[in-house]
Amino acid sequence: MFNPKKLAKKNFLSSLDMSREEIDYILELAKNFKYNNLEINYKNKILGLVFDKASTRTRVSFQAAMSRLGGSSIDLNPLTSQIGRGELIKDTARVLSRYCDVLAIRTFSQSNLEEYAKWSTKPVINALTDFEHPCQALADFLTIKEEFHELKNLVLTFVGDGNNVANSLIFCGALLGVEVRIACPKGYEPNALVLKKAMEINNNKDFLKVTNNPIEAALGSNILYTDVWSSMGEENQKESKDKDFDGFCINHDLLRKADKNAIVLHCLPAYRSKEITDEIMESPNNRIFEQAENRMHAQQALLACLLK
Ligand code: CP
Ligand code: NVA
Repeated sequence: MFNPKKLAKKNFLSSLDMSREEIDYILELAKNFKYNNLEINYKNKILGLVFDKASTRTRVSFQAAMSRLGGSSIDLNPLTSQIGRGELIKDTARVLSRYCDVLAIRTFSQSNLEEYAKWSTKPVINALTDFEHPCQALADFLTIKEEFHELKNLVLTFVGDGNNVANSLIFCGALLGVEVRIACPKGYEPNALVLKKAMEINNNKDFLKVTNNPIEAALGSNILYTDVWSSMGEENQKESKDKDFDGFCINHDLLRKADKNAIVLHCLPAYRSKEITDEIMESPNNRIFEQAENRMHAQQALLACLLK
């Protein structure tokens, strides 16, 4: 039997750390925060943010979510803390978890994040690693649910790099029963282990497709999704990736292949005229800014559950 209390004190390092029921519960709670002015008070609770990479949405939406719960947050910049001088994660994590009630970490490797979780006595949340962006996927599926109400029979097509955002969408799609198609250039397919795990979770053999043909992938899709071609940490690959990803842009021609009521999502920040055109960013099909707003509602619900 599903018991929401089991979410308390849990880590959220991967989309796979939640069951389908837990994700559904968090998304329903998020809707209650958003539309019904639900109030849950976590006065005196403190969220610690450790961000080794830049962020606008994740950082601010976490801070806003924590304030809305009546708590507060401490934003730790590695450059002005001892983290930047190389203090060990196992020491930092043990110290921070004595001051804070929950930690949100944005870092490079998933193993660094796991090291924080190993040593922290408080829940640790993945605020993006090179491998996954599970908080983003929560907000994405909240946006999709708001639009379509039912997830059954939906097709989500991600056009771009088989990256952290794609991995979390694949995992969440597998858990929630949404067909996911990935269209990427040859050599940029998602990690084979991610595909294997997702197929084990969702044993419908048609649930997941990976192709190098964006038009084929977009056909009849309900959601077209993209992200930057070069992620943070890949700055030195930008020139070659820009060439390799030519043709993997969400533009009007691609949108026309999708379902007539299709929506367009982008986790942001966006590079207009690279992975998405300015026209599509400004088109009535875009739900990109609802999606960005939903980061806050979804994370408020996540924090409320983990802090219970
Ligand atoms: N989508 C997202 O995570 O944005 P930020 O990098 O601004 O946090
Ligand atoms: N894939 C991107 C997502 C940014 C929110 C990156 O990791 O830079």
